[in-house]
Amino acid sequence: MTHLLHIDCSAVSQGSVSKELAAAFRKTWAEGRPDGAVVHRDLGVEAIPHLDEAGITSQFIPSEVQSPEQKAAGELREKLVEELLGAEAVVVSSPMYNWTIPSTLKAWIDQVLVAGRTLTFGDDPNPLAGRPATLLLSYGGGYTPGAPQEHWNHVDPYLRTVFEDALGMDLTVITAQLTLAGKVPGMEELIEMSQKSREDALRATEERAGKVTAALAAAA
Ligand SMILES: Cc1cc2nc3c(=O)[nH]c(=O)nc-3n(C[C@H](O)[C@H](O)[C@H](O)COP(=O)(O)O)c2cc1C
Repeated sequence: MTHLLHIDCSAVSQGSVSKELAAAFRKTWAEGRPDGAVVHRDLGVEAIPHLDEAGITSQFIPSEVQSPEQKAAGELREKLVEELLGAEAVVVSSPMYNWTIPSTLKAWIDQVLVAGRTLTFGDDPNPLAGRPATLLLSYGGGYTPGAPQEHWNHVDPYLRTVFEDALGMDLTVITAQLTLAGKVPGMEELIEMSQKSREDALRATEERAGKVTAALAAAA
């Protein structure tokens, strides 16, 4: 385990709330692990290809008989899987797009979840089990428990399934909500709540990054 794996996926480069949270995490990380390596993928800047037929079949066909497309697709999956398996900690920032995650993040998840490598079954332990993962999320609306549209939120329930249930990682989820207040007409009365949510999320992010770096330093 050698690095922090940092995934961003907001399509926006300036003024992204999810990337602002990730930057706060990275700042605390740099202070706590000054020599720690980081692998950063900004999928909003450089998307990775969707998993296609060559990528899926590359997992089941011996390399000697793979087509050039299968070889290339299999090599990409292997590189991304190695980045995940080699991470001592993972931080993923994501906005809500149309009530779920951006397709760029889904493409990364489809590439890295590989049976027998990152996905295990039955009693087989997952190689990522217990490692810290932090999700830093930004939602334009409000989806807190009891909110009228709570059940429209398919971001953190889905990501919890991936990182907590399937990979067994030690997961913390931090969300800035109502980020569209002040930008969208009709949300004016929510501006104060939006600012508070963002400030709380920034504080929680710094706290989480501090805990993760302290735990890793203590284990070293
Ligand atoms: C294409 C697109 C779709 C969006 N869909 C939703 C949505 O379904 N629900 C919501 O609450 N906000 C939605 N938003 C607002 C974003 O979740 C919000 O602006 C968030 O802060 C974006 O993250 P970022 O600031 O890191 O870019 C959407 C924004 C975009 C650009």
